[in-house]
Amino acid sequence: MSSTLLVTGATGTVGRHVATELAERDCSLRVGLRDPDDVPNHLPTDAEVAAFDFARPETWGAALDGVDGLFLMRPPAVDADSVSGFAEAAARVGVARIAYLSTVGAEKNPLVPHHRIEKRVAATDAAHTLLRASFFMQNLAEVHREDIVAHDEIFVPAGDGETSFVDARDVGAVAATVLTEPGHENRAYDLTGAEAVNYHEVAEIFSEVLDRRITYAEPSLFEFVRRYNGRGYPLPFLAVMCAIYTTARLGLAARVTGDTEEILGREPRDMETFVEDYAEEFQPETQ
Ligand SMILES: NC(=O)c1ccc[n+]([C@@H]2O[C@H](COP(=O)([O-])OP(=O)(O)OC[C@H]3O[C@@H](n4cnc5c(N)ncnc54)[C@H](OP(=O)(O)O)[C@@H]3O)[C@@H](O)[C@H]2O)c1
Repeated sequence: MSSTLLVTGATGTVGRHVATELAERDCSLRVGLRDPDDVPNHLPTDAEVAAFDFARPETWGAALDGVDGLFLMRPPAVDADSVSGFAEAAARVGVARIAYLSTVGAEKNPLVPHHRIEKRVAATDAAHTLLRASFFMQNLAEVHREDIVAHDEIFVPAGDGETSFVDARDVGAVAATVLTEPGHENRAYDLTGAEAVNYHEVAEIFSEVLDRRITYAEPSLFEFVRRYNGRGYPLPFLAVMCAIYTTARLGLAARVTGDTEEILGREPRDMETFVEDYAEEFQPETQ
């Protein structure tokens, strides 16, 4: 009998790719959705859908019933205790493997929720794999898309610092691999792309691929917060973003590892490929 794998955050940036990758493997796929009546088109049609909400422990039992492996992520608005508590409940009912989506440097930074969740996941009886991902390329197509589409600019306060961007599709493929293949138990991986680039270089890649001039506006933290707060992003969210971009500005987000390539057996996708594949998302809205 093939194993049953539960994917949390399956409507999100990484979880959707974990789900599509798992659908191609020999396993039964279950996705845990807050609204099981609203299944997005991008999810595999043969995925079993379970009602699941980190904030509603009464949904956990049915979502975990018969599950062997779990892709666990922390939605930005969910507290660390709920995510950790769910991991512990999963291990208690016999889930044998947990792959947890964390962030690079979480093990050294007690201030980030991932630090505490990692420790609690690692303390369960389940075999765990901690996936400490670098900054997703997809952030440029999500939170920063409007600047590119409406103003032909990249508007992040990262100065000249480099970032070892990783494509969320590769993170999803890694998660599917560690949940379905042996050799990744009780390990932690730092998932980066194959190179670090600064935002001047990112803007050049965008300009070449999209065939129009995209500039890097290089705003200050203040200018960034003013614009994004004006768009309705709440200050706590912007504080986290400023911390992330300050890390990049200081050159602390540039470390490149071979973990993604080693697990996938191929080079990680680069920024050029990302922009080519998402080019439609970046077309000016007037076209
Ligand atoms: N962005 C980056 O560059 C980066 C890099 C490294 C690590 N990370 C980490 O990645 C995680 C976010 O992953 P992501 O970007 O793939 O997610 P995402 O796109 O932000 O999506 C959030 C997902 O969580 C679900 N969700 C929200 N509240 C929920 C709840 N109460 N119960 C169950 N599900 C809930 C959402 O489902 P609905 O459809 O119901 O809203 C959605 O599927 C964060 O922990 C972040 O720190 C991010």
